[in-house]
Amino acid sequence: MDDVDTTETRQECTPMTYDGYLKVNQLLDCQSLVSTKNGKTEHDEHLFIIVHQAFELWFKQILCELVSVCELFQSLVLDDSKAFIIRIRMQRINLILKLVLEHFTIMETMTPMDFLEFRGYLSPASGFQSLQFRLIENKLGLQGKDRVPYCQQNYTVAFNDQSKQLLHKSCSEPNLLRVVENWLENIPGLEEDEFNFPAKYAEAIKRYLNDAYLIPCEKETDETKKAAIMAGYQTAKDNFDSILDPEKHDDLVKAGHRRLSHRALQGMLMISLYRNEPRFNQPYQLLTLLMDMDSLVGKWRYHHLQMVQRMIGSKVGTGGSSGYHYLKSTVIDRYKVFVDLLNLSTFLIEQKYVPPLTPSMKELLSVFSKQHISEE
Ligand code: HEM
Repeated sequence: MDDVDTTETRQECTPMTYDGYLKVNQLLDCQSLVSTKNGKTEHDEHLFIIVHQAFELWFKQILCELVSVCELFQSLVLDDSKAFIIRIRMQRINLILKLVLEHFTIMETMTPMDFLEFRGYLSPASGFQSLQFRLIENKLGLQGKDRVPYCQQNYTVAFNDQSKQLLHKSCSEPNLLRVVENWLENIPGLEEDEFNFPAKYAEAIKRYLNDAYLIPCEKETDETKKAAIMAGYQTAKDNFDSILDPEKHDDLVKAGHRRLSHRALQGMLMISLYRNEPRFNQPYQLLTLLMDMDSLVGKWRYHHLQMVQRMIGSKVGTGGSSGYHYLKSTVIDRYKVFVDLLNLSTFLIEQKYVPPLTPSMKELLSVFSKQHISEE
């Protein structure tokens, strides 16, 4: 009897069914309307619940993908086949985020007057208490200090002790921002005794600033135009200095304007400038997907905000915040986890200024490099 294959035995007794596998009955039993008045319920409350539940299911899938992407990034070495899996999963997250934006449009088929008929029953419940939404934010790498206070308090006040513990734990675990940072810091070509990209890039910037500002300024005879060129030069130079000088960069991190380490920023820049090299194709695509992800979360906030304004105007939220005004204050750069990636274009230069790769670096970044072959 000990050797009996239990899976087979179970299949013989009760064959798998659609409902049994997907627990459809349980799922469809989760819509408990609270708007019962004289034995009648408000028609649109059903939609209100379904839309929220659909969001929560998709949040669950996003979290599942995010956890796996973080794990994969932690073990990532350049050209690892894991980069391909990361790409597929990040594409999936982004598609889900795009899809759920449409859920807001469905919610908007409910008129504000119909919403009013049952809104009073909901208080003090609020989307603010969505644990999964907070876990997603934390897993992406949103920092507590970057959050807008909610009714002058920390966002965790909305949660019970068990949820608070989960939130606390999620802050102590590796998040996407930090694992990406670590990956970028290890991009080949940054080392001083090798390609030394930072030094070569600094030289390239000097040439660029000279051609773009200093030479035209020398040739210009009109004093007003000269001054305008020099003002442009100073702004550009200050911008470039902020990535060339680690101390200036660290000051920006301290002030909350940047998130990634100086070395990671250099790695990101290197991937972008040499994106056409075969072994940087995939890393470049990962960077693009991270930017898309951040933008889509921002779009989520914006679409939610628009819908809230349409539904309740400036009324206070059922969760007790100022409603529209509170939500509006979250649609800002502080909530962009990968803000450094979004700002990267500030530091891009025309191809003619990009430092040429040395033969060994070219080989390292090619698919058929000696190193690659020996690794095989
Ligand atoms: C008629 C529809 C909706 C209205 C009027 C509404 C209103 C609000 C308001 C006023 C807040 C601020 C907190 C408060 O004081 O309550 C809020 C927060 C929130 N809502 Fe909604 N909401 C709606 C639909 C949704 C849906 C479908 C979701 C999807 C899960 C959602 C998720 C959230 C989340 C995650 C927050 C916290 C946002 C943050 O703090 O950054 N809401 N909502």
